[in-house]
Amino acid sequence: MDGKKVSETSSTIVYQMLPEDANPAGNVHGGVIMKHVDTAAGVVAIRHARGNAVTASIDRLDFHSPVFIGDLLVVKASLNMVGRTSMEVGVRVEAENLFTGEVRHTASAYLTFVALDKNGVPAAVSPLILESEEEVRRNNEAKKRREVRLAEKVRELASKDRA
Ligand SMILES: CC(C)(COP(=O)(O)OP(=O)(O)OC[C@H]1O[C@@H](n2cnc3c(N)ncnc32)[C@H](O)[C@@H]1OP(=O)(O)O)[C@@H](O)C(=O)NCCC(=O)NCCS
Repeated sequence: MDGKKVSETSSTIVYQMLPEDANPAGNVHGGVIMKHVDTAAGVVAIRHARGNAVTASIDRLDFHSPVFIGDLLVVKASLNMVGRTSMEVGVRVEAENLFTGEVRHTASAYLTFVALDKNGVPAAVSPLILESEEEVRRNNEAKKRREVRLAEKVRELASKDRA
């Protein structure tokens, strides 16, 4: 299988936040942002797999600052690492105040997607071609997170077996 570059699948999706996106306090609901994070990451994974890919886990989602109605939500997603069938996507969310141009870093997340074949079985994906030092750094960090993730899964399965 031919390799694919990070730049071939990186995606930026923008949404203007509208009153229907508000929480009871009048700011943007965190769940709305989570949905857009999952969507943007899914676009990257499906572009890399050129087939179906599902969210297997979100192992970290940090909110750094609130988003307000009227802000432009800018969701940037790119592939950090691929395994055999899994792909870790990093997402950075920014909010732009359209009146002032001020841009705030709002949230960051790491999501793992798994490519599935037509029968819903995990399917191998193309290797990832790393071109920049930044991509190599992200790839190394993602490999460490994968080790932690897999170790947690093994621990969880073992504790279920004991229960
Ligand atoms: C994700 C899913 C396909 C994994 O199935 P599985 O039988 O555990 O698959 P396998 O054990 O063969 O593992 C396949 C890959 O998924 C990875 N994986 C499995 N569970 C994972 C998890 N919780 N987090 C991260 N990666 C995971 C494995 O590490 C493996 O990666 P690799 O091929 O790169 O080494 C399955 O759990 C599933 O279908 N979940 C529901 C997904 C869904 O519907 N998401 C939408 C949200 S509602």
